[in-house]
Amino acid sequence: MTTKILFVCLGNICRSPTAEGVFRGLAAQAGKDVLVDSAGTSGWHNGDLPDRRSMAEAAVRGYDLSNQRSRKLVAADFDSFDLIIGMDHANMENLRTLAPKGARAQLKLFLDYAPDQAIREVPDPYYEDNFDGVFDLIEQASRGLLGCL
Ligand code: 4NP
Repeated sequence: MTTKILFVCLGNICRSPTAEGVFRGLAAQAGKDVLVDSAGTSGWHNGDLPDRRSMAEAAVRGYDLSNQRSRKLVAADFDSFDLIIGMDHANMENLRTLAPKGARAQLKLFLDYAPDQAIREVPDPYYEDNFDGVFDLIEQASRGLLGCL
């Protein structure tokens, strides 16, 4: 059965599109039956491509983010997906606030799938410019998540 997974961050141009592209690539290599999407809690970048710095680092590592466009999280996502995964504690707080009562999706913090990491949040690279480190974390957590499917 297909597992439906939605990655969520603030802008849906840096971290969650990266998680979508990386996880989709690794899941395909592993032969896992998944449907993957991403969304932002803000809607500030609706319709935009991922950040060019995310796309550049993705290309170096063999992932393609160019088919993705930013979109805002909607209430229906909580019923369409099995698993909704936030990048940081603020994302999780927003998800818990927006989740309709009795919604189907389980809510998870991404780095809970990378228990060897000392940090619990994927840092926002938009201002920090730490795309390399963010990709390392996302690849690690994606492998952890794949191991749970
Ligand atoms: P993301 O990063 O949540 O990883 O997509 C951000 C992208 C844009 C902004 C903030 C964070 N912004 O302020 O526009």
